[in-house]
Amino acid sequence: MGSASGEDLAGRTVVYGITGGIAAYKAPSVVRGLKALGIDVHVVMTESAGHFVTPLTLQTLTGNAVYRELFPEMPPDAHEVEHIALADRADLILIAPATANFMAKMAGGIADDLLSCVVLATQAPVLLCPSMNVNMYNHPATTQNIDTLKKRGIHILEPASGELACGWEGAGRLPEPDRIVAEAKKLIYQKDLSGISIVVTCGPTCQDIDPVRFITNRSTGKMGAAIVEAACLRGAQVKVISGPVDIDYSPWAQVVMVRSAEQMLESVKENLKGADILIMAAAVADYTPANYRASKIKKGDKLSSIELKPTPDILSTIKPMKGDAFFVGFAAETENLTGSARSKLSSKGLDMIVANRVGEEGSGFGSDTNSGVILTPEGVLDNFEQLEKEVLAHKILDFIRERV
Ligand SMILES: Cc1cc2nc3c(=O)[nH]c(=O)nc-3n(C[C@H](O)[C@H](O)[C@H](O)COP(=O)(O)O)c2cc1C
Repeated sequence: MGSASGEDLAGRTVVYGITGGIAAYKAPSVVRGLKALGIDVHVVMTESAGHFVTPLTLQTLTGNAVYRELFPEMPPDAHEVEHIALADRADLILIAPATANFMAKMAGGIADDLLSCVVLATQAPVLLCPSMNVNMYNHPATTQNIDTLKKRGIHILEPASGELACGWEGAGRLPEPDRIVAEAKKLIYQKDLSGISIVVTCGPTCQDIDPVRFITNRSTGKMGAAIVEAACLRGAQVKVISGPVDIDYSPWAQVVMVRSAEQMLESVKENLKGADILIMAAAVADYTPANYRASKIKKGDKLSSIELKPTPDILSTIKPMKGDAFFVGFAAETENLTGSARSKLSSKGLDMIVANRVGEEGSGFGSDTNSGVILTPEGVLDNFEQLEKEVLAHKILDFIRERV
C-alpha cells in the first residue's frame, strides 16, 4: 500500500498495456511519468501497437523486457505462465491508448493475445484510456462496450475532445500523459480517507474598491491545492471553495470559485452541511472597503483615504453549525507563531490549527515549502521547517485522520 505521508509509490507495479492506436506515440511519456513516481512498469504490447511505437523505446525507458507474445519461446526449465504472472504482479493494469477493437474484445471476454489474457486473469484494478476517431468512439458498438466495461468496475478515463490525428474534430483524443499518470496514481494510492467528505477553502479574497481596483493579499492557493490533491488521492470527496487564483485544482475535486470574503462565507455555509472535515486554508481578508464605488474613481477625484470595515468572521459565524465536524484553521504570522496560533485555536473553537511563517524565504505565500507549527487543544503536534507543501498536506491529513 502507498504510504499515507505521500509520494512513496516505489515498489508498486503497473502493467502497462499499449494497443494499436495512433496515440501510442504518447506511451513513452506515460512510462516516464510513472517511472518518475518510482513505479515499476512492465509493458505489454498488442501486435498492432508495434506499428506505432517500438518495443526498444519502451524497454529502454522501463528498464524491463517488453512482453508481446502469448506463446513465447520458453527455456526448458521455465515453469511460470507469463500472462498469469503479469496479471498477479500488477497493482494496476493501465491500457493507453485502448483501441475500439481491444475494448470490444474485453467486453466480450475474448482472450486471444497476451494483453487480453492478462486483463481477464487479473484481480488488480484496470484503467482504460480509449482513443480513436470520433465516429469509432460514438459508434453504438463502442458506446455499449464501454458501458459494459464500466458496469464491471473497469475504470475509464474519458478521451479529450479536439482535433484528432485522423483529421476529424471531436471526442477521441488520448488525454495528456500527465493526466493519465495522475489517474493511475490515484488508483494505486491508499484510500484511507474513503467515505470522508472534506471542504477546503483556498486562496485569497478580493475586496472591491471600485470596478477597477481591489484589496487582496499574497495567497496563491498552493497550500490549499496541495491539501485538495492529497485528500483526493487518498479517496476523500473534496469540495474546494476558492478565491481568485492562477492554479489548477485536482481534477477529482468539485470547485466553487468565489471572489470576496462575504461570498466565501456564503459558500462555506452552503457546502458545510454533511462535511466531516472543514479545512480553512484560504487567506480571507479581514477588512473590506466600507463603500463600494459603482463607477471608477478618477485620478482628479479627491481621495485621501479608503474607509474600511471588518469582513464577516467566517469561523465565528459557522461555529454553531460545527456539530461533529472536525475544523482545521490556518494562521499566517510573521512573529509569535505558536502564541498567536494558540489563541486563534481557542477563540475560534478549532480542533487543529496550522500556523505558517510568512514574510521569509521558503515559507508562506507563493512558496513551494512551508515552515511553522501544528497545534491542537492538547498542545503542539509538530514543528515543520521548509517542508514541501505536498508533504505537509499529507502530514496534516495524517494528523486529522488519527482524530476523526
Ligand atoms: C494508421 C492507423 C491508425 C489507427 N488508429 C486507431 C486508433 O487511434 N484507435 C483505434 O481504436 N484503432 C485505430 N486503428 C485500428 C486498429 O489498429 C485496429 O483496430 C487493430 O486491429 C487494433 O488492434 P489491437 O486492439 O489488438 O491493438 C488504426 C489503424 C491504423 C492503420
